[in-house]
Amino acid sequence: MTVKVTVTGAAGQIGYALLFRIASGQLLGADTPVSLSLLEITPALKAAEGTAMELDDCAFPLLQGIEITDDPNVAFDGVNVALLVGARPRTAGMERGDLLSANGGIFGPQGRAINEHAADDVRVLVVGNPANTNALIARSHAPDVPADRFTAMTRLDHNRALSQLSAKLQVPVTEIRKMTIWGNHSPTMYPDLYHTEVGGKIAAEQVDGEWLRDTFIPTVAKRGAAIIEARGASSAASAANAAIDHVHTWVNGTAPGDWTSAAVVSDGSYGVPEGLISSFPVTSANGQWEIVQGLDIDAFSRERIDLSVRELLDERDAVQALGLI
Ligand code: NAI
Repeated sequence: MTVKVTVTGAAGQIGYALLFRIASGQLLGADTPVSLSLLEITPALKAAEGTAMELDDCAFPLLQGIEITDDPNVAFDGVNVALLVGARPRTAGMERGDLLSANGGIFGPQGRAINEHAADDVRVLVVGNPANTNALIARSHAPDVPADRFTAMTRLDHNRALSQLSAKLQVPVTEIRKMTIWGNHSPTMYPDLYHTEVGGKIAAEQVDGEWLRDTFIPTVAKRGAAIIEARGASSAASAANAAIDHVHTWVNGTAPGDWTSAAVVSDGSYGVPEGLISSFPVTSANGQWEIVQGLDIDAFSRERIDLSVRELLDERDAVQALGLI
């Protein structure tokens, strides 16, 4: 059966890196036909049409159709996988309240449209920042969709952490298991090496504490800014890659003995208030995320997790005060 994948912000730079990979079968596998719905704001529809022309020109065998629209009710009609990439970026001098309000104006209506029109098995990944809180807004407008279908992306942070550790220890990324990103997709997110295994041994015991604190954590946290500085544009291909990874793992499951990171609705695990969309170590089986249970959290990690969760609570309180959830 053809799977309908909706990408918002389809004419943006992540959209451009993402759509071709979805159409080629990398999101759902080489046996799954897909139809694409490209949601954009009206002024960007023409650019989305250009991208659609290029998609046509790839003659992808799995691609069954392309729809381009500025109406969320059309874009999310019958959607199975919704990738919410388009968001209002923070511009110079913009206060947090204005940023959250502008995004509330995007993710509220999109959540409602998902609630009204999506397929029963819909899965939602929010990429557009502030991703966790945008996902919370969308979720709060979709009361008929199970809460666990709304997720936000921390897989890019996860992949960045894997790559930094792999370079430090001179091991292939395939030898690293159980990496975890906790908290918000923001510079406060916490990449945790105290449960990560390299060659069966804990990673934090294979690196010195100073590198972990003063190099590893800040490098992962500030990687987005470093890429803007070097490339003159924000990370797009790596963000698209992480979105592909997130959905692929959600649908196909995590490998035995491993887990990944995703921002999912908290059930109160690890002291993260219930209902927040926060990053956790997660496994996936039968298309459902499960938060990994029973990990011991040392004092250093506790402090870092609490800091990031505090930020999520502040964002939640702010959108609540603005009447956005
Ligand atoms: P971009 O500015 O190139 O593209 C965004 C697109 O969204 C634009 O084409 C714009 O017209 C569209 N858009 C805006 N409002 C919309 C609406 N209401 N409906 C549909 N489309 C809408 O930005 P880029 O580089 O593609 O990034 C997109 C988002 O992803 C940003 O918020 C960025 O901060 C975020 N991001 C998140 C990452 C993560 O790890 N969670 C990593 C990298 C980026």
